[in-house]
Amino acid sequence: MRKKQGFRWNHMTMGTCYYPEHWDKALWQEDLRRMKTAGISMIRVAEFAWSKVEREEGVFDYTFFDEFLDLCQREEMKVIFGTPTATPPAWLTEKYPEVLNAREDGVLYRHGGRRHYNYNSEKYLELSARIVEKIAAHYGKHPAIIGWQIDNELNCETSEFYSEADSLAFREFLKEKYHTLSALNEAWGTVFWNQTYTAWKQIYVPRPVLNQGYNPHMHLDYFRFISESTVHFCQMQADIIRKYKKEADFITTNGIFWNLDNHRMMDECLDVYTYDSYPSFAFGLNCDPQKSDDLNDRHWSKKLTEVRSVCPHFGIMEQQSGANGWTTRMEGPAPRPGQLTLWAMQSVAHGADYISFFRWRTCTVGTEIYWHGILDYDNRDNRKLAEVKDFYKKLKTLDEVCGAEYTAAFGVLKDYDNCWDTNVDVWHKRVDQASDEEIFAAAQLYHTPYNVIYLQENTTPEDLLAYPLLIYPHPVLMTEKRAGLLRKYVEQGGMLVIGCRSGYKQENGKCVMFPQPGLLQELTGSDVIDFTFTSPAEPPVFAEWDGRKIDMPLFNDILRPLEGACVLASYTDSYYKGEAALIEKKTGKGRALHFGSTFSRSNMEMLLRYAGVIRPFDDLLEAPEEVEIVQRVKNENRYLFVLNYMPAAKKINLKKQMRLLYDGTLHTGEVILKPFETAVYKVL
Ligand code: GLA
Repeated sequence: MRKKQGFRWNHMTMGTCYYPEHWDKALWQEDLRRMKTAGISMIRVAEFAWSKVEREEGVFDYTFFDEFLDLCQREEMKVIFGTPTATPPAWLTEKYPEVLNAREDGVLYRHGGRRHYNYNSEKYLELSARIVEKIAAHYGKHPAIIGWQIDNELNCETSEFYSEADSLAFREFLKEKYHTLSALNEAWGTVFWNQTYTAWKQIYVPRPVLNQGYNPHMHLDYFRFISESTVHFCQMQADIIRKYKKEADFITTNGIFWNLDNHRMMDECLDVYTYDSYPSFAFGLNCDPQKSDDLNDRHWSKKLTEVRSVCPHFGIMEQQSGANGWTTRMEGPAPRPGQLTLWAMQSVAHGADYISFFRWRTCTVGTEIYWHGILDYDNRDNRKLAEVKDFYKKLKTLDEVCGAEYTAAFGVLKDYDNCWDTNVDVWHKRVDQASDEEIFAAAQLYHTPYNVIYLQENTTPEDLLAYPLLIYPHPVLMTEKRAGLLRKYVEQGGMLVIGCRSGYKQENGKCVMFPQPGLLQELTGSDVIDFTFTSPAEPPVFAEWDGRKIDMPLFNDILRPLEGACVLASYTDSYYKGEAALIEKKTGKGRALHFGSTFSRSNMEMLLRYAGVIRPFDDLLEAPEEVEIVQRVKNENRYLFVLNYMPAAKKINLKKQMRLLYDGTLHTGEVILKPFETAVYKVL
């Protein structure tokens, strides 16, 4: 069982990101007042402002934020205060270059960007701890502050670390894990290509090797090490802030990035998680929305599903309000009228009770002059501000939805070991990504919402039994413990589905010498007698299931049933025509299925139907594929979010009487949603 999140919003709340250091002080008061008029009652500040407090080494001056926070207090604006460690000052990186992160080839990232530090330099840990302590001690009891943000987007910009300090710390991490070099050599299979280590000092974080012939088992431990380093850095700051903050104030961080066990970081360090949501990335350079089959901006619902997995009642620290872009990379168009609200409602639908728009006003200097905020450089009222105000009116009508639970019809299992192993496994990445995207697409198009559950050390069968159907798409790495957990889930009535490529590696990513799906074989009653990528030189492969053809794309496990199992579908193509493609075995009150391929939006339809979970809202409303339906539930009240992502009107049909929360009106039957329009109904 995971720890309960320590903080939840009691009311739907709106905020923005503000940078007092970017503006003339003469603007502050007017800015805060205009925010309040728009409905903004919370701001996030200070996350890049180290030099405003420690301009020279060891010389601390609090006057800048004292003045600003006092003004916030007078203007009744609540503040989330950021720790500034994402951007160390120039004096620091110049004097202590060992704090810098490096490229894989050892070249240091220099001052000027952000997040160019490493987590393992003793010096950086010391100076970060000191600035956090100074800030927390000085501002911790300030009445305007209600929360703290640690750093900014941990593991964004890069999630790989190659400094000298990282190699030293990596060795310590490995010593603690393996104790002896012979255990490490065994775990990493270093006998291959004569990689055998005879002294700890021969081990480094990955370095350039010819033809990318990296050792995958070392890489897996390297990602575990990065995650450990990141959590440690976050924990160090959280522990300091906790000593000084007011009891009720929360600690958070923003964004979800790579090579990081975000669940562990949430449980061990934070009270609540916040995310940064920028759906117009979907329309940026190199994207062709006409051809896209990943659902464009609606794809952000997939990211929000991941956030909900980390923290069910989260906040959005940065919600897109204008066009995306840096001077040096990327572009994304401005939200169309209605789209700003659509994207913010998408966040609320998926579990956000706090929406903070990035940023109050577009910066007039620096690399982010094209990362547009609510206001433009000219500071006049504009259509975006008008839409933010309108969004606030809608948000306030949703107050009773605050804290409501997202309803999932099924669950998708993941775990960090498999995610990180897949990162450096080109063979498997293609398989894994295809299923990940298609399961999402199927859930969206058939209006069958899901949750993602990451298997953790403390996951219990009860956690899993909340879902009648669990799909663990391709659990390549399998351990006795996880197999045991899955067995209990099935025995107690769950339906588990695994895809192709399951159970062929052990916990270090080494392949096991027993039949696939390895440790899951007894549960699924399936035996993989052969396997292959589908051949581009042959026609697509299908299987027949219950008289229907289902596609078996990309990769095929050719199966045989073992005792007690039955064949549900067989291949109709290729050299394995007639062989089993889908096998089911009942155990206890439940059953496990081995599906011999990757998941696609069409084969998922059959699976969801077979499991009896498809289209759970059919008795309430009908909507076309282009419209997302989400349900949140609280105290037996059901709230339906209906989101039209199209620049065209869409028709929906309400089969019961419902109240539109935005204006309290009652509706049944046909309703037309305008382009980008959203609606939130309470089912009566
Ligand atoms: C992230 C960061 C912000 C800002 C935006 C735009 O979300 O957290 O500080 O840089 O990206 O680049």
